[in-house]
Amino acid sequence: MRLFSLDERLLTCAGLVRDGARLADVGSDHAYLPVWLLKQGRISFAVASDIGEKPLETGRQTAEKYKARNIEFRLGAGLDTIREDDNITDIVIAGMGGEVIADILSESELAKNPGLNFILQPMTRSDELVGFLYENGFEIKKQTALRSKGRSYTVMSVRYSGNKVVTSSLFRIVGKLDMSDAESVRYIGKKIKDLENKSLGDDSARELLNELRLMINEKN
Ligand SMILES: C[S@@+](CC[C@H](N)C(=O)[O-])C[C@H]1O[C@@H](n2cnc3c(N)ncnc32)[C@H](O)[C@@H]1O
Repeated sequence: MRLFSLDERLLTCAGLVRDGARLADVGSDHAYLPVWLLKQGRISFAVASDIGEKPLETGRQTAEKYKARNIEFRLGAGLDTIREDDNITDIVIAGMGGEVIADILSESELAKNPGLNFILQPMTRSDELVGFLYENGFEIKKQTALRSKGRSYTVMSVRYSGNKVVTSSLFRIVGKLDMSDAESVRYIGKKIKDLENKSLGDDSARELLNELRLMINEKN
């Protein structure tokens, strides 16, 4: 069976997984990401977990269809499905709201392991997630923006450092995006539109919009 291609969003997540990793894909659903990485020989082992039995079954079918080995499917919430002897090195949490990802990280002591490489891809509320990360001792190592199927996304690799930092509203939106990259500019352009569409009666919100517009104009 010829291996499928990942879309740009999952391909960007895959690019931040370290070679040889033992991966946990939390909220795996179809399990495209771990199956693809295993078949490419990029990772040695994967736990694909999901809170729902139905998505987990879909993932099992993907693994069976493409004859992926070294993958275990586990039913459960967040990081609860990861066992110590799995020796997981990298954890992907993709395709969920930023607040759900923040909840998953806050509910587990396991997340406070500085050796773990988290790859996070929030579908919404990325600013809430960035604020949560820094206030709780996590830091973004790398962040990129991409466009897939007409929609802008951001993906970040994150680790726990223990340093708690209060972030500005501007940082929570821009994070560690490289603003010399056209996709980052496009992503921030979309954030500006979202902010404009909300009722922004207060001065601080207007100031934030101006700072973001200035940033975009400086890069055009
Ligand atoms: C939209 S799918 C994303 C699938 C895949 N990660 C991707 O990015 O394409 C989100 C999945 O996360 C699962 N999910 C939601 N909350 C979860 C939680 N707290 N723990 C584990 N899985 C969760 C859902 O059941 C669903 O299958």
